[in-house]
Amino acid sequence: MGIALIWCLALILIKWITSKRRGAISYDSSDQTALYIRMLANSEIEVSVSARNVRRLLSFQRYLRSSRFFRGITVPNSSNILDDDYNGQAKCMLEKVGNWNFDIFLFDRLTNGNSLVSLTFHLFNLHGLIEHFQLDTMKLRRFLVMVQEDYHSQNPYHNAVHAADVTQAMHCYLKEPKLSKSLTPWDVLLSLIAAATHDLDHPGVNQPFLIKTNHYLATLYKNTSVLENHHWRSAVGLLRESGLFAHMSLENRQLMESQIGDLILATDISQQNEYLSMFRSHLDRGDLCLENANHRHFILQMALKCADICNPCRTWELSKQWSEKVTEEFFHQGDIEKKYHLGVSPLCDRQTETIANIQIGFMTYLVEPLFGEWARFSNTRLSQTMLGHLGLNKASWKGVQREQSGSGDDVDPAFEEMDSDILPQEPRLS
Ligand SMILES: *[C@@H]1O[C@H](CO)[C@@H](O)[C@H](O)[C@H]1NC(C)=O
Ligand SMILES: *[C@@H]1O[C@H](CO)[C@@H](O)[C@H](O)[C@H]1NC(C)=O
Ligand SMILES: [Zn+2]
Repeated sequence: MGIALIWCLALILIKWITSKRRGAISYDSSDQTALYIRMLANSEIEVSVSARNVRRLLSFQRYLRSSRFFRGITVPNSSNILDDDYNGQAKCMLEKVGNWNFDIFLFDRLTNGNSLVSLTFHLFNLHGLIEHFQLDTMKLRRFLVMVQEDYHSQNPYHNAVHAADVTQAMHCYLKEPKLSKSLTPWDVLLSLIAAATHDLDHPGVNQPFLIKTNHYLATLYKNTSVLENHHWRSAVGLLRESGLFAHMSLENRQLMESQIGDLILATDISQQNEYLSMFRSHLDRGDLCLENANHRHFILQMALKCADICNPCRTWELSKQWSEKVTEEFFHQGDIEKKYHLGVSPLCDRQTETIANIQIGFMTYLVEPLFGEWARFSNTRLSQTMLGHLGLNKASWKGVQREQSGSGDDVDPAFEEMDSDILPQEPRLS
């Protein structure tokens, strides 16, 4: 096909898709001519056609794949989602889906990149949600496929595998005795949906980046929990589109949407100190009462926060892979910021940062305080296991740090700076 014809087709498709889709965002760093942040909002977008832009066509594949039309064709059969040579091995892994050592990377390979769909569908089944809420399994699967496809597989970290990992961790927390005996099917349903969708359509750059590049989402959400609001609204969009709960009353659907929002918005790391001090004072007063729905939902917010940043609490083999991926994403952002003279964000400069420094700071200021309180709330073997891995992993990174620098620098100075961006509320957590 000639280039002109390809472009003609592409423009027709883009026009057609943008007229239907709203809120999807993507970021294309390969463009040489300008800082190019693609926005497919309600409004039409301008696509300038030039030979140089042909490259961009590739990045529209996601939209081709995830458009309604193509979705309808590619939704896997409920019985053949795992229908390749790895079928047996993946099914076998699912029998141990509640193990803290669950290897989500291996599971993703065995399911041919469908870890989020396979795992979440399995958990819906396991928790009896399909029966209890009389869900149509085809609609459920279609919903999960749409969710999985709206994650950006080109993000090193914020992709569908991270979402699957968080969902798996959430499942482990839901099984903890304190929670499992008081949770209703409704709570479990919301928790799993929120976990699976909590980073939906993540652009692979952070909020400060969206703010300083005047991204329309920053404007839309007034510079506050910009990404989290977008993840939530994207989830709501897919819930409505799938019709998964069309048989429920409007009142229940609205309640569901707002409660999923409360869960997803709690994953904004810049709000961590507020959630943590609330959690801490409840634990100090010993007044948490899980028969109370509000208290239960607060605990589910804390559980999802834990699930979201539990990477350092996994075994070293898993934890190390996550660390590399998240650093790659940070450094990629830093490269773009350098290239366009936007000022490099904290933790994003590959010239001055190291994985070890970033991880030690992350563990010290965010993960340890959160999991310390979680272990007070749920003092179980799982909590002790997580704290055990956390300690060992931190020691390993300190070993790496010593090897690299020879200096006694313990904590990344960038986390001091980061406080102003990411942790604006308070002085240090102890
Ligand atoms: C779906 O699965 C059923 C049962 O295994 C099979 O008979 C059918 O051919 C499959 N349909 C498609 C479209 O793959
Ligand atoms: C968001 O932040 C930008 C950059 O600091 C600022 O120009 C803009 O006025 C802010 N918007 C709101 C609604 O606060
Ligand atoms: Zn996340």
